[in-house]
Amino acid sequence: MKFLVCKDYAAMSEWAAQVVKEIVNNKPTAVLGLATGSTPVGMYNRLVEMNKAGEIDFSKVTTFNLDEYYPIDPANDQSYRYFMYQNLHGHINILPENVHVPCGNCEDPDAEGKKYDRMIEEAGGLDFQFLGSGVNGHIGFNEPDAELVAGTHKTALTENTIEVNSRFFEKIEDVPRFAITMGMAPILKAKKIIILINGENKVPILDALASGKITTQIPATMLQMHNDVTVVTDEATAAKMHESF
Ligand code: F6R
Repeated sequence: MKFLVCKDYAAMSEWAAQVVKEIVNNKPTAVLGLATGSTPVGMYNRLVEMNKAGEIDFSKVTTFNLDEYYPIDPANDQSYRYFMYQNLHGHINILPENVHVPCGNCEDPDAEGKKYDRMIEEAGGLDFQFLGSGVNGHIGFNEPDAELVAGTHKTALTENTIEVNSRFFEKIEDVPRFAITMGMAPILKAKKIIILINGENKVPILDALASGKITTQIPATMLQMHNDVTVVTDEATAAKMHESF
C-alpha cells in the first residue's frame, strides 16, 4: 500500500484524473470501476474537461459503478445512476451501453448481483477501481461487520451511513435503507486501486490504514492485501493523523 499526500483536494483530484488518463491512453478499451459521493466529483470534473480538450477518449471505455441504492428508480434524481450521468457520463463520449450501475429497481437483487459480477468478468475484469471511504471505513457499501461478502449483493446500510448520506436528501427518512454493492472480490481483483480519503472525520480510517492492521470492522483495511493500492489524502488531513505513513 502506497500513501500520497497532495496539497489539497484539487491536487488530489488532479492526480487521480491523471492516473485515469494514463490508464485509458495506454488501453483505450479500459474497464473502470467508479464511485459516487463527494470524493470523486473533483476528479470527474477534470475528466470532463480533459475529454472536451481531446486529452482522453472514452469511446471504447467501459465503466462499472460500485453501488446503487435499493430500491430506487434509476431515473430518480437521488439514484447513483442519475448522479453519474450528472457528474460524468452525461458529459463525456462514452457509449451508453458501456455504462453499468447496479439496477436499483430489479426484482431479484441476488440475481442482479450475480449478473453484475458476470458482466465484470466478461468485460475482462476491472483495470482500475476508484474508491472513497465512508467515515466508518466502508468501501462501496461493504459496511463494517464480522463478515464481509465476496460477490455483489444487496446489503443493509448502517445507521451511520444513512445519517452521513442524509446530507443529500431533504430528510433522513428519505434515505434508502438498502443498497446493491459490489462485494469485496471484484474490488480486490481490480488491477489497480486508488482510494481518496480526506477530511477530519476520516482521520481514523487513515490511521487504521497506516497501522498496517486488517479488520473486517474497517473494510478499507482489506486493501492491505492488494498489491497496487495508493491511498491519497491532503496535507490538512495528514496533519491530523496520529499514525504516520
Ligand atoms: C459511493 C461509495 C461509498 C463512498 C463513501 C464516501 O459509490 O461506494 O463507499 O465512496 O461513502 O463518500 P463521500 O465521498 O461522499 O465521503
